[in-house]
Amino acid sequence: MLPFTRPSIGDEEQRAVAEVLASGWLATGPRVAAFEQALTDYLGGGVAVRVFNSGTSALEAALIASGIGPGDEVVVPAMSFAASANVVVRVGAVPMFVDVDPVSRNLSIETVEKALTSRTRAIIPVHFAGRGVEMGPLRELAAERGLLVLEDAAQAIGTRIGDKPVGASGNPVCFSFHPNKNMTTIEGGALACSDTGMVRRAERIRFHGIERDAQGAMDVPEWGGKMNMPDVNAAVGLVQLTRLDAFNRRRRELALGYIERLPRHPAVTLPADAPGHSWHMFCVCVDFTALGTSRPAFQERLQSLGVGSGVHYPALHLFSLYRKFGYKPGDFPAAERIGEQTLTLPLFPDMTGDDLDRVCGALQQVLDGGAS
Ligand SMILES: Cc1ncc(COP(=O)(O)O)c(C=O)c1O
Repeated sequence: MLPFTRPSIGDEEQRAVAEVLASGWLATGPRVAAFEQALTDYLGGGVAVRVFNSGTSALEAALIASGIGPGDEVVVPAMSFAASANVVVRVGAVPMFVDVDPVSRNLSIETVEKALTSRTRAIIPVHFAGRGVEMGPLRELAAERGLLVLEDAAQAIGTRIGDKPVGASGNPVCFSFHPNKNMTTIEGGALACSDTGMVRRAERIRFHGIERDAQGAMDVPEWGGKMNMPDVNAAVGLVQLTRLDAFNRRRRELALGYIERLPRHPAVTLPADAPGHSWHMFCVCVDFTALGTSRPAFQERLQSLGVGSGVHYPALHLFSLYRKFGYKPGDFPAAERIGEQTLTLPLFPDMTGDDLDRVCGALQQVLDGGAS
């Protein structure tokens, strides 16, 4: 059975974990400091990085550290993982969903502009499946209107926009290192930002709001949570980061292989390549209705042929939590169509050429057979 994703964990990661376990220091310690420095270096050295126990925590801390809360509105694409909007609700602000481009699945400047009100404080562009959002116009608009841009790069470690890696922009950027991401720390996340005051505050929020003076005396000047990354996780991350560029090169090869070899069928829309794309996922759209079937039935047929698949994602605004904000079917047609038709095919660095052929063959077979 070929899963739709699988982390690449080797001997080095296993040794690194064993060393931490034997060291007697398991919680946040020297490996976290080393991992933060390694991430800073990877991003070109111009930003400070703080790691967290998840990408969600990093996003939440970044919002709080930016002073976003009740009464504020935050623009979020209607096509993303739930965390992108949940963090906005968590800090007491209102998510203002916008539709996405049907091919890139990323929000576009036109949709953002229409969603701005006098209460808008921030925009959260999501680099969907590793494809970089066109940031130039978005940044200009944000600067004009005095808005924060908080990049949700949970799916985009290693993505490049122009000549820079995502994360090097200076505005806050959050990554996830969940096992299905392009590199993993088991669970984990990071915030990269050039604003040292903001990073310092996020660091405090990450660990109980604690601040220490030069003598080591402790104060808690504001609320903080428990969002720190243990050293075991950082040790895995240190190894994975050295392998990231090779992982991403392999992801690209496989994605281009799919684009070349997948069956052309009127009911199937393939994703497009783009410069700097890190191919976190390979998501196609399938018009299940035109095929006279349903997504679960289609997935079951693929599974019976040994091919796993995923759904990334149902449109956010149609979840019951978000309907309570007044969102309804028809609000964001592109996100809704993606939500109904999307299907994630297997893509991970350890996949072989034979695996790729197997997926292409299975898809052809299910399309031919009508997937009953
Ligand atoms: C777009 C997006 N944002 C945020 C997150 C949250 O990251 P984590 O699972 O590390 O909390 C994810 C994770 O899947 C994601 O895909």
